[in-house]
Amino acid sequence: MKQIKITSSATVYSNLGALSTEDQMLMNKAIKARGNAYAPYSKFHVGAALLLDNGEIVLGNNQENAAYPSGMCAERVAVWQAGSLFPGVKIKKLAISASSTITKVDKPIGPCGACRQTLSEYEINQKEPFPVIFMGEVGEIVKTPSLLSLLPFSFDSSYL
Ligand code: THU
Repeated sequence: MKQIKITSSATVYSNLGALSTEDQMLMNKAIKARGNAYAPYSKFHVGAALLLDNGEIVLGNNQENAAYPSGMCAERVAVWQAGSLFPGVKIKKLAISASSTITKVDKPIGPCGACRQTLSEYEINQKEPFPVIFMGEVGEIVKTPSLLSLLPFSFDSSYL
């Protein structure tokens, strides 16, 4: 028997103004993208903004459906849009922001497990980590150094 330790670190910022200019710009895009979410069921609006290596910014927001599981998260909408428009172009960073029309989202909202798994495929393929920056509507902002730091023991193509 052996014990192993899994560690990861993240930086926590107290407000948007504490971010670098580029991170701030990308988070503002995610905040704007959130405004176009279609979330009549959960009332939870998520925006995602990907900065790509070619300078393009690709946005996504959650798109819900009356048959609930048929909806899609903001992060996957964004990353699949990026993959379809700019195949093979590296992701430099991802910003995510969430708000709700029923509560004040004052905690950083990290990507769900399915989005982490989906995003991990892209980080692994590009062989370069990309930071993930996430927040609620207000409050602290978390920045992780990579996607995989959010997904220990992840499943990847090497297992197939
Ligand atoms: N949602 C996202 O867009 N991203 C996440 O990482 C978590 C959840 C969406 C899905 C659904 O439309 C709503 O938020 C509530 O779960």
